[in-house]
This record gives sequence, C-alpha cells and structure tokens, in this order.
Amino acid sequence: MTTFQAPKGVPEYYPPASAAFLAVREALAAPARRAGYGYIELPVFEDTGLFVRGVGESTDVVSKEMYTFNDRGGRSLSLRPEGTAGVVRAVIEHGLERGQLPVKLWYAGPFFRAEAPQFGRYRQLQQVGVEAIGVDDPALDAEVVAIADEGYRSLGLQRYRLDLTSLGCARCRPAYRQRLQEFLGGLDLDAETRSRVAINPLRVLDDKRDEVQKQLVDAPLMLDHLCPECAAHFADVKGHLDALSVTYQLAPRLVRGLDYYTRTTFEFVHEGLGAQSGIGGGGRYDGLMADLGGPPLSGIGFGLGTDRTYLACQAEGLEVGDPARCDVFLVPIGDRAKARLVVVAGELRRVGVRVDLAYGSRGLKGAMKAADRSGARYALILGERDLEEPARVTGQLKDLASGEQQPIALDAVVDIVKEKLS
Ligand code: HAM
Repeated sequence: MTTFQAPKGVPEYYPPASAAFLAVREALAAPARRAGYGYIELPVFEDTGLFVRGVGESTDVVSKEMYTFNDRGGRSLSLRPEGTAGVVRAVIEHGLERGQLPVKLWYAGPFFRAEAPQFGRYRQLQQVGVEAIGVDDPALDAEVVAIADEGYRSLGLQRYRLDLTSLGCARCRPAYRQRLQEFLGGLDLDAETRSRVAINPLRVLDDKRDEVQKQLVDAPLMLDHLCPECAAHFADVKGHLDALSVTYQLAPRLVRGLDYYTRTTFEFVHEGLGAQSGIGGGGRYDGLMADLGGPPLSGIGFGLGTDRTYLACQAEGLEVGDPARCDVFLVPIGDRAKARLVVVAGELRRVGVRVDLAYGSRGLKGAMKAADRSGARYALILGERDLEEPARVTGQLKDLASGEQQPIALDAVVDIVKEKLS
C-alpha cells in the first residue's frame, strides 16, 4: 500500500526533539510577554491583496513564494507568508489603535513560503513575532531589538551577531534611491539585474555574486544620506542599545526581503547555519498602517525564526528544554496492581506531577525499560503481593538515576513524590 509523507520542505518536530522546539518558542516569546506585549492569534490565510499591498508586489515573498488559492466563493486567499501585514490589518479592523498607544502584540505560529527547500529553509516556517504600533520613539526601537536579543541569550546562544542599519524615510529615501540608481546605471550588469535596478535598486546591494559585489565598493549608502530627522533617530536608537549593552554591528548594506521597512532595520545572523544564517529580523514600517487604509501611525517589530533558532541551538550544542516525558513512571505487576496505580496516576497528575504508566501487559523487565526511556526520575513499582494488606499498600519507589529503591506507602505517595521533585 502507498504510504504518505509530509509535504516537501515542511519540518516536523516529534519527541524527544519537539521538547527543544517548544522550549525555543517559549524562550523567544517570554521576553515579549515580560515587556507588556499581548498575545494575538491571527488567521493562517488572508485576502491575497493584503500581502500584495502590505509586503510588496515586487518582493520574492509575494511574487514567487505565496501559496495562493481561490476559495469556493472565488475569493483569492493566500497562506500567510509573514505576520506583520496581518497584525496591522487586525489593528485597523478592530480599531485597536484607538486604545492606549503603542499597541503591543506578539504572535507565534507557522508561515508559508514556496521556497526551494534546503537546510534551514522551509516551506512551512515558524516564527515568534512582536509588533509595536503607534509610537515613534527610538527607545521603543531599542526595546524591540533588546527583546529579541534577550530571547536568544536566554537560550545560551553566543555565536550570533546583530546587523543594524537605518533605511531612511519617505523624505530621504527617494533621493537616495535615485542616486543609487544613477550609480548602478553606470555599471556592467546583466539584463535581469538592470531590471532590478529599475524596480528595487536596494536589492542589488545584496547581490551575492563576486562580479557584482566588486563593482559595488563605492556604491552610495543610505546611512550616509539620511535626512537630519532620520540621522538623529538612528543615533538615539544606537545610544539606547549601547546603554542596554546590546552589541550590534552597523550593516549599511543590509537589505530585507520585504518592502515596508523604514528607518531602524535589523537582522540577527548566526554563524553556524551556513547559507540560511538569518535567525530573525525586523524593523520599522512607518508607512504600513496608512498603506493598508488605517491612520498614519508608525510601527516596529520583528519575526524570529523558531526553526532556525532551534538549529542554532543544535549547532552550539546547547541542551534546550526537558526531553523527559514524565517525572514518575508507574510499573504495575498484574491487573489489580494496575487498577490501583491508575488511581495513583490520577492523584499525582492532579497535583501537577507528570506521570505515565506501563500499559498493556508487559513484564517487569520490559516495563522498567519503558520507565528508563521515558526520562522519568522515579519508577513506582507495585506487585499483586503488595495489595495483600489493603490497610497499608506499599510499593517500591526507585530512583532511576542512582538505582536506589525504598518502600513507599501508597496513601502517602502524593506528598512524598511532590517533596522529592521539589
Ligand atoms: P523575515 O526576515 O522575512 O521577516 O522572516 C523572519 C525570520 O523568519 C527570518 O529571519 C528567518 O529566521 C525566518 N524565516 C524566514 N523564511 C524562512 C524559511 N523559508 N525557512 C525557515 N525560516 C525562515 C518577516 O517575516 C517580518 N514579518 C518580520 C517583521 C516583523 N518585521 C517587522 N515586524
């Protein structure tokens, strides 16, 4: 019979590795929650037009990588390739900006891009993201960057860097863009690159080919052409980051794959991941609210790649998360012992102890092997003979690391186990 496989480019996380994946997601989200960001659960598919207008028609993400389909009513929908457009849509739709500003939201979940799959590049990718909308304050930019940095650091990651730049604003970027186009117009470029010069010249700065890079040495850079307001804004952001001891590297050629960025823009890069080294990125998008039909409010946020951060932890040999499935593994010998331990399992779980039980009719040896595999710290063994004195049923509690074993009265088991695990 034919069997099925998960679609190409879709990673799956199952035990024991999934414990590390969950721990990574939790570690990336925790600093956002501590900074007052509220959780938003977004639709996984949206009106295609939202991404075309929000992310940009000329971006690869929208023009080449979207999973787009018509629903039964003939409406064009797309699986979300990223989270910012959806958050901004939700803020406008629900009038969240009429409350306290900034609106601070975080989200986590899968996003979809039809990219050529390779190590660290998936078609279903996971992100933890934040968006802060409605206040243009360099201290807020620093907060957003510092939250991301804190997430990585709390996992123990060290071999990553933060690339930082400013992409200017609607006032200074057009003049810079023209200057860059004039510069690029004088270079020896192939037809495809020349058409990119016309549509999105900044992307050319990101060209990986040597023959192109060689010609770009003297290319004008946005950082040298910021208007006074953008320059002052960026200086403030850097000042706050210095004060927060967040280390960064200026990256005037940093280009992001999404069109909405303005001013502060950043990317976290890990050195252990090969070509797919971006473990997270973000920036300001001061025109996006207005572009999507809302009031002209600023915004800033990030999306951190949960899959890639997980891979980065592996590359650094970090043990993240607790792969143990339970704390106590119950081993009954015989049906009556099992019936009794099923009740004990319920009691222990009710007080928060993670408990599993040897189901089926395994012998002692097989059940103890299962106990070891479960990662539990203790096994509780109960035989038929132990039930002969119903007034004081006593099992054996075995410390699976040391092998030590002690008798334990079942009516005291909850208190004793809780105490031992605390
Ligand atoms: P992005 O740079 O496109 O930004 O994605 C953020 C992160 O998602 C990347 O740094 C990377 O770690 C991860 N990622 C992206 N594509 C893939 C893929 N194919 N496979 C595995 N991981 C991937 C955004 O999506 C923006 N919405 C971030 C943002 C929020 N900017 C402002 N607010």
